[in-house]
Amino acid sequence: MAAGTIPTQTPDVTPWKDTTLRRSREAPRQARQAIKRWLADTHTSLCSDVLQVVSELVSNVIEHVPAGPQRDWLEVRLGHGPGFVRLEVIDPGTPGRQPRFAPLRQSSLDLSGRGLGIVAALSVRCGSHLVDHGHRVVWADLAPATLSEAGGQVAQAADRARQQHPDRAEL
Ligand SMILES: Nc1ncnc2c1ncn2[C@@H]1O[C@H](COP(=O)(O)OP(=O)(O)OP(=O)(O)O)[C@@H](O)[C@H]1O
Ligand SMILES: [Mg+2]
Repeated sequence: MAAGTIPTQTPDVTPWKDTTLRRSREAPRQARQAIKRWLADTHTSLCSDVLQVVSELVSNVIEHVPAGPQRDWLEVRLGHGPGFVRLEVIDPGTPGRQPRFAPLRQSSLDLSGRGLGIVAALSVRCGSHLVDHGHRVVWADLAPATLSEAGGQVAQAADRARQQHPDRAEL
């Protein structure tokens, strides 16, 4: 499937990066490599959480979405919204099964069913929906953990803008 063919992101999210990966055991690592590359210069404080979330979502595709003809792909996308980064993992879909975002209970010793609880704990909101051709999108919005971090990133952006446009007094 060609990257960028399924319009899934909500209007307040600006698409930024995407990659289509072959479904394989290597896919979680390849997705982490792409995220690390994309976030190397910006959003460094979010990078570790986004790496964890993409690992869970891509592993779920390998584990829970059946393989088959025309189904050997998954897509990873990053977008920007006001104060957050949107991660989306898109898969070929599977009828009769859908992601269960069960909250992680601190006392739980369950050995599986933890992944989407971790995703929910690391994100400000997350969810899943079907799009054309029965393809599924699982998404999570991640924001800097503290206001001071968010403020720091805004300040850095302002510094960069001042360096690029030293004549603009309002920056
Ligand atoms: N992309 C997906 N499509 C369809 N169902 C999914 C998808 N991802 C997850 N699920 C369903 O949601 C359930 C919960 O997922 P979760 O990642 O929390 O647990 P798990 O993958 O079963 O175990 P763990 O992640 O702890 O190894 C899964 O058992 C599966 O039934
Ligand atoms: Mg899982």
